[in-house]
Amino acid sequence: MSKYAIDLNGKTVLITGAAGFIGSYLAMRILRDCKDVTVVGFDIITDYNPVELKEWRLSQVDKAAEESCNTWVFIKGDLADSEAVASVFSEYKPSVVVNLAAQAGVRYSIEHPDVYISSNIIGFYNILEACRHSYDGGECGVEHLVYASSSSVYGGNKKVPFSTDDRVDNPVSLYAATKKSNELMAHTYSKLYNIPSTGLRFFTVYGPAGRTDMFYFSATNNLRAGKDIRIFNYGKCKRDFTYIDDIVEGIFRVMQGAPGRRVGEDGLPVPPYAVYNIGGGTPENLLDYITVLQEELIHAGVLPEDYDFEAHKVFVPMQPGDVPVTYADSSALEKDYGFKPKIGIREGLRRFAEWYKKFYSY
Ligand SMILES: NC(=O)c1ccc[n+]([C@@H]2O[C@H](COP(=O)([O-])OP(=O)(O)OC[C@H]3O[C@@H](n4cnc5c(N)ncnc54)[C@H](O)[C@@H]3O)[C@@H](O)[C@H]2O)c1
Repeated sequence: MSKYAIDLNGKTVLITGAAGFIGSYLAMRILRDCKDVTVVGFDIITDYNPVELKEWRLSQVDKAAEESCNTWVFIKGDLADSEAVASVFSEYKPSVVVNLAAQAGVRYSIEHPDVYISSNIIGFYNILEACRHSYDGGECGVEHLVYASSSSVYGGNKKVPFSTDDRVDNPVSLYAATKKSNELMAHTYSKLYNIPSTGLRFFTVYGPAGRTDMFYFSATNNLRAGKDIRIFNYGKCKRDFTYIDDIVEGIFRVMQGAPGRRVGEDGLPVPPYAVYNIGGGTPENLLDYITVLQEELIHAGVLPEDYDFEAHKVFVPMQPGDVPVTYADSSALEKDYGFKPKIGIREGLRRFAEWYKKFYSY
């Protein structure tokens, strides 16, 4: 698909979910690598993950902004509040919007479905409406909407690797259903209002200052506290892990290449719409991942060399909403943006363990 190049220098970029794991890294990357850019971060700072960690991430973004000649603005607000979203768009007029704010997590969606509808469905609808109205009065408006989807849309699909050409009509969690809905809603708005949009299906992103609800982080916290770790599906799971720097590189490139606008034979816009996978491309056995995590936690001095890992492992059945395997075919991303994730789990978990050691020895 032809891409319309966007030069981020001199532009305003809105990142929702900017206090989150991926959003904070992306904000820093743009502040460091672009010139005369204004980055507007928007986040309600939910307590789904520790608020202190979100505040620490924001302090890192503040530092990156101070070290650059760029402008960083943070707004605390709820995506589900249409007026709050509309006022950010009317005040800052972003050229590029990256929607990362969402209620994440597959297991949490079983017990707290309402927050997924509020943040992921109504919140995303508010973003689409704001993008639509950004063109009012002949304004240039939003040149590219990039938004987070998820590998969870593939549900229990058996065919691997997962391709964006595969059917994804059978989500197995409400979280997955909201992400698939986002893709459908984006398609409609791209078609009706000619909004260039790109959805990115992320595959298990990990790294320093990551999400505490994710296995590598919660397992580290538990082991450090002398508690047990639960290993789902008796360890018979494969995950395509993606290191944070690879995800950020992918998003950064995608932001700068929007699907081109064109008119179809019927005289109406052909939706400038695309969806890509971003995944490491090497699914790892969960048990191998745990072994590397153990080794790196010892190497970084988080846990002692004689730590009895086996005594803390509890093997449990598969959880509702979970899937046994994720495996990304990211060849379309490579073809269109010349990028392929590079960082393996050894290096990625080493960086996580080293960060963890430093962070928790304050
Ligand atoms: N990390 C992963 O492995 C992964 C995998 C697939 C998809 N994703 C998606 O990528 C995006 C970013 O993920 P992350 O890992 O950085 O998650 P995160 O939880 O660290 O960040 C999300 C941020 O969104 C904010 N938020 C939630 N609801 C909001 C609302 N209603 N209004 C404003 N802000 C709100 C939260 O406070 C949080 O800081 C999410 O959309 C997530 O679903 C992540």
